[in-house]
Amino acid sequence: MKILFIGARLFDEVALYAKSRGVTTILSESDPKSPNLKLADKYHIVPRGMDHPMNIALSEDVDAVVPLIGIDKPLIEIAKMKEKLEKEYNLPVIASGINATEISVNKLKTKNFLINNNIKTPKSTEISKKQYKISKYELRFPTVLKQAEGQGGVGVKIALSPEDIESYFGIYSQAMMEDFLKGAEVSVEVLRWEKKSVPLVSVYKGDTTLEGTHPLNKIRTAPAKLENLNNLKIMKIAKNITDKLDANGTTEIEFIFNEETKEINTLEVNTRPSGTRFLTFSSSNINPMQQLVNMAMGEWKPRTIEREIEHYNALEMSLSLNQNNLIQNHSLNNNNNNNHKKHIFTSDKPWIIHGPDKASRITIRSENPTNSFEIMKNLKIME
Ligand SMILES: Nc1ncnc2c1ncn2[C@@H]1O[C@H](COP(=O)(O)OP(=O)(O)O)[C@@H](O)[C@H]1O
Ligand SMILES: [Mg+2]
Repeated sequence: MKILFIGARLFDEVALYAKSRGVTTILSESDPKSPNLKLADKYHIVPRGMDHPMNIALSEDVDAVVPLIGIDKPLIEIAKMKEKLEKEYNLPVIASGINATEISVNKLKTKNFLINNNIKTPKSTEISKKQYKISKYELRFPTVLKQAEGQGGVGVKIALSPEDIESYFGIYSQAMMEDFLKGAEVSVEVLRWEKKSVPLVSVYKGDTTLEGTHPLNKIRTAPAKLENLNNLKIMKIAKNITDKLDANGTTEIEFIFNEETKEINTLEVNTRPSGTRFLTFSSSNINPMQQLVNMAMGEWKPRTIEREIEHYNALEMSLSLNQNNLIQNHSLNNNNNNNHKKHIFTSDKPWIIHGPDKASRITIRSENPTNSFEIMKNLKIME
């Protein structure tokens, strides 16, 4: 079995697993300096875009292609490659197709998709700078302004006053204006292949704030433990969305849950490896990235996954540079451990440190929340 992986940045998360499954790994990457290149049996440095990876897939005669792309921009091109390779060469590409991807990378299309499928989502309108200047709307504040495309909070602003809207329109000429919802941000990763989907766990990412602090910058935990939130229910909604979308591979569905009104609103959909994947893996013991390899190997076993899902407590936070140095010097640190243990949880190292040096994060696995805090104290990353 030979698999082409596209993108080296996340390749270290699957390299050893693929090897352990007897897969010959071919890697395609545009950055010749990527540290993960040497983890592959063979790599190709190619210009950006999907033309070259597509040719490599054919010339190397691989059995499947697994894109490992955590950003939105290349997803449409990947989807086009998928449709071509699957249709013309019967070569599976573990990613979403064009329709699902177009909906996921564009928040206006996501909104229409949700409304058309009767899925509750915050109300929104499209507004241009010009319209805003001549309109006499009674605007209610706070209101959320966003761009159709963007991730990680780019282009998202919580406007508290007309001045905030003015200043947003100093940068952008149009906006999607969405009702601000107070509540808990929750997301669910759903694996889907061969029309069978499995939601893994609900992840709590903190509450929405007027500053619009992105969940990436908050402490996140899984499974979510929120008053009045039925985790099975939110997971079912996530599964339903993934099915309606006909997404493939791994997809993250984001929600805002109001503990008082019990309303679950769907915020957005991301058809790519999610920033929550270490939390999901830590809690459920199902590693979404490894499952992409299983799908590529023709070993997608959704019923087995459902049976094997665990319910550990997962906690994740970002590490400041100081904390990071501290951990790098700690006797139990990731790199002092055998490198092959870097991406697994063990009883003597119940955590994984991941991400780039300047924005690294720690994900902890434990039996209960108190344990997680004990582990953080022992690592001296919390008082
Ligand atoms: N309608 C909303 N109400 C409250 N907060 C919101 C709303 N929309 C976005 N936010 C805040 O902004 C963040 C980013 O918005 P999102 O739509 O998920 O875009 P991105 O693709 O950048 O993640 C959310 O995680 C949330 O913290
Ligand atoms: Mg988001």
